[in-house]
Amino acid sequence: MKLEVAALTKCYGQTRALDGLSLSVAAARVLVLIGPSGGGKSTLLRVLGGLETADSGTAAVNDHLLSADPASLQAYRRKNGFLFQQFNLFPHLTALQNIALPLEKVHGHSPAVAKQMAEQALARFDLLDHAHKLPTQLSGGQQQRVGIARAVARQPEVLFLDEPTSALDPEMTAEVLELIQELAEAGQDIILSTHEMGFARAVADQIAFVAAGKIEELAPPASLFGDPKSPLCQRFLSRVMRY
Ligand SMILES: Nc1ncnc2c1ncn2[C@@H]1O[C@H](COP(=O)(O)OP(=O)(O)O)[C@@H](O)[C@H]1O
Ligand SMILES: [Mg+2]
Repeated sequence: MKLEVAALTKCYGQTRALDGLSLSVAAARVLVLIGPSGGGKSTLLRVLGGLETADSGTAAVNDHLLSADPASLQAYRRKNGFLFQQFNLFPHLTALQNIALPLEKVHGHSPAVAKQMAEQALARFDLLDHAHKLPTQLSGGQQQRVGIARAVARQPEVLFLDEPTSALDPEMTAEVLELIQELAEAGQDIILSTHEMGFARAVADQIAFVAAGKIEELAPPASLFGDPKSPLCQRFLSRVMRY
């Protein structure tokens, strides 16, 4: 994927979540956002995915210039896939229904086609045994895997993942990270935020260190982790890598 982001600003009341953020990525399969809490990672993911509009600045994803026009933003959003930290699934629907319903209601597929696509998505990630379970009958890791299956059921142009494992224990974290790695290896373009530094290093083509609403540093993992240039990034890494 290709990104051209210039001087993006987004405020929530007095808070500048994005503060003139610029980012240029010529070609990357997986872009990972790391950085301190409150730095702007989630806001950037929402803006790049078309879930929110910035107050000013421009962003182009794969040469598609994001506009504030609701109809074109909605069309853009529907090309992408999303998964957030937690509470992704509708609690009153089974795993299968969770995937099939948006395919029907949002994307206009017939019930039969939606069900078939949902079954394929579950099968792809070894989740067919869980098709008829409600979210409460699944582990956190299984819920997130169903959430990812739903997000990729329509082969999104870009998959946006916001801290997909932050609510999970280590074993479940591993099963979700393995799935994400598998998607990346299959060619899926992904932009994700995470606090899992080992995973970031393994899966990313480019890592962006986001702090105070800006990209402080952008580099391939070996150089960002091995030889960070920005003092803020150095301090962040020395703290999170200490234990
Ligand atoms: N919907 C919102 N309403 C009010 N403030 C928000 C909202 N979303 C984010 N913020 C604020 O914007 C800043 C950046 O937040 P966020 O993008 O969530 O950072 P990160 O994901 O890196 O933790 C924080 O100060 C946060 O409190
Ligand atoms: Mg966040």
